[in-house]
Amino acid sequence: MKERIQQLKKEKNAVILAHYYAPDEAQEIADYVGDSFYLAKVAKGISADIIMFCGVRFMGESAKILNPDKKVLMPDTSADCPMAHMVKEGLIEKMREEYEDLAVVCYINSTAELKSKSDVCVTSSNAIKIVKSLPNKNIFFIPDKNLGRYVSEQVPEKNIILNDGCCPIHAKITVEQLMETKEKYPEAKVLSHPECDEKILSLSDYIGSTAEIISYVEKAENEEFIIVTEMGVLYRLREENPTKKFYFPNPNPCCADMKLNTLERISEVLEKEENPIEMEEEMREKALAPLEKMLELAR
Ligand code: 13P
Ligand code: SF4
Repeated sequence: MKERIQQLKKEKNAVILAHYYAPDEAQEIADYVGDSFYLAKVAKGISADIIMFCGVRFMGESAKILNPDKKVLMPDTSADCPMAHMVKEGLIEKMREEYEDLAVVCYINSTAELKSKSDVCVTSSNAIKIVKSLPNKNIFFIPDKNLGRYVSEQVPEKNIILNDGCCPIHAKITVEQLMETKEKYPEAKVLSHPECDEKILSLSDYIGSTAEIISYVEKAENEEFIIVTEMGVLYRLREENPTKKFYFPNPNPCCADMKLNTLERISEVLEKEENPIEMEEEMREKALAPLEKMLELAR
């Protein structure tokens, strides 16, 4: 299957992008693997004819918004991020009426429609920097309340209004689960993703995006780590640090949507050029502005 995919990639001038939560096999054959910010930057500059995006829908959509002339394919159209939809209809408009100087800051884990109504996008690796750089005092942070709260703690000079959305995978990790793992491995450093609940973050030694967690492990002298995010990051962690030990809270956090990116689907979809991301040009243009602004402010 891997050989077949390599052959198809050449024939069709295609590249494969994969998020760190994609199955190991997808990360293994991908040309680019990274966190959401890295993948958005890569997608913008790709010159191949086809981009096969092994992630969830908002990632494929972002690639299409940034690189509209390319065919962006997804191995499985049902791979979606539930959090990407978690803003109540009409709420953005209501907030804009309430606060004159409001900036709507949209986590990249959101639908194209939500992006199109926002001022700037952020990812977990650049949210603090971007929010700090905005001239606005009042910020409506959508859709993730956990990342929003974490950013508001780091940027206390802003009035950050939170939205009631979250990642069901990260939000499900409990303090009890983390404490149980900590008791078993007391020497391990706790590294958490900011999509986790605030109680988890307060018990962590380091908070960062998937790429930042991976980079922290590489630089750290410690040998053991408790990783509090989706377990797909284990593939890269083990590849780069074969002697270090990694533990996850029990049950291991797993995003079923990300796991839909199997070799079988990649091969079949690339062969038939199925599942292209499509959207209306008006929507694409509106959603492009906040994504471009993110790329500019994060530079
Ligand atoms: P990052 O890879 O940007 O840390 O995002 C995590 C995530 O949940 C993506 O869906
Ligand atoms: Fe969405 Fe959470 Fe899955 Fe990331 S891990 S894609 S935020 S559901």
